[in-house]
Amino acid sequence: MRNSRRGEVDPFIVMDVMEAARAAEAAGRHVIHMEVGQPGTPAPAAARAALARAMEEHALGYTVALGLPELRARIARLYGDWYGVDLDPARVVVTAGSSGAFILAFTALFDAGEKVGIGAPGYPSYRQILRALDLAPVDIPTDPANRYQPVPGELAGQGLSGLLVASPANPTGTMLGREDLAALIGWAEAEGAAFVSDEIYHGIEYEAKAVTALELSDQVYVINSFSKYFSMTGWRVGWMVVPPDHVRRIERLAQNLFICPSHAAQVAALAALDATEELEGNLAVYAANRQLMLEGLPRAGFGNIAPPDGAFYVYADVSRFTSDSLGFAKAILDEAGVAVTPGLDFDPVRGGGTLRFSYAAGTEDIREGLARLARFMRARGHID
Ligand SMILES: Cc1ncc(COP(=O)(O)O)c(C=O)c1O
Repeated sequence: MRNSRRGEVDPFIVMDVMEAARAAEAAGRHVIHMEVGQPGTPAPAAARAALARAMEEHALGYTVALGLPELRARIARLYGDWYGVDLDPARVVVTAGSSGAFILAFTALFDAGEKVGIGAPGYPSYRQILRALDLAPVDIPTDPANRYQPVPGELAGQGLSGLLVASPANPTGTMLGREDLAALIGWAEAEGAAFVSDEIYHGIEYEAKAVTALELSDQVYVINSFSKYFSMTGWRVGWMVVPPDHVRRIERLAQNLFICPSHAAQVAALAALDATEELEGNLAVYAANRQLMLEGLPRAGFGNIAPPDGAFYVYADVSRFTSDSLGFAKAILDEAGVAVTPGLDFDPVRGGGTLRFSYAAGTEDIREGLARLARFMRARGHID
């Protein structure tokens, strides 16, 4: 049958790595998972209990397209608690994960063929979602000196209709400070370009708090999710905050594209917002894992890393050892039993010389993974 050009998106390589790891496990091997970008923990107990109650008491039919009003109000309150921002709940849109929010945002903001800037390295699906919507992703190569984040000086003259940034970012974990974020928002406003801020890793920060774009401007789209800090990847629920005059536009799109986000997931998400103690417990595990990574990776020869301000990733430059990160990651899986993600997923041009290590697993796994990585690198003669 015929097919479309815009359907020609690339595979998500980390998903292929996960499949290779699964096959190795099915063949009886023990694999340490440093590839997955998700918490190993379940949704908070209070979220699961709230859903169990709701299933007995309610039909859980469609909700209104923008999401349960009490969930929108509670998310708005989070902005007061986390950042001191007074947010009108009417601007909050509940979505099918941040992935659903990107589809709504890109459709609402851009026409076919328009160019949208994304930092490289960056989350691979930005590029593919843009392509699938007939938009033109423009990679902005970023630099370790700028914490792998775009800077206004590099954006000029590219004809961008929009700019998408993430802080903390995937794959680097680096954050944009208040001034750098303000400079990028200011650039977009001056250019008449839309500014989209992916804040999915907010809450998972270690030394400084992440700044939300809403602290700096109301003329931005902010996208977030229950997947990471709230430990609810598979529930497919997230949210987006849009300028007041965009709400009705998004509502019309959401009604037609999705009808509504999952009702069950919204019930669970509402309860997750109050599960602070359990979620801070998860965060303490990431903090301990991060410390182990910061000590263990350089000892294993992976010393050239991006400053891991937040999220649960370390992005390492391995260009001293290889220009084929795909083959290197495969060798690490085959020989060391550790699944890691090749940088090519995040940066099609320079990613042949980088790897991403996730430390979202349990602390014992991280310890064992680091020991295996050191043995692998020693066996290859990369370290003494
Ligand atoms: C930076 C970033 N944005 C968005 C997503 C998508 O998350 P979800 O659709 O589960 O909210 C991910 C997932 O790993 C991510 O790393």
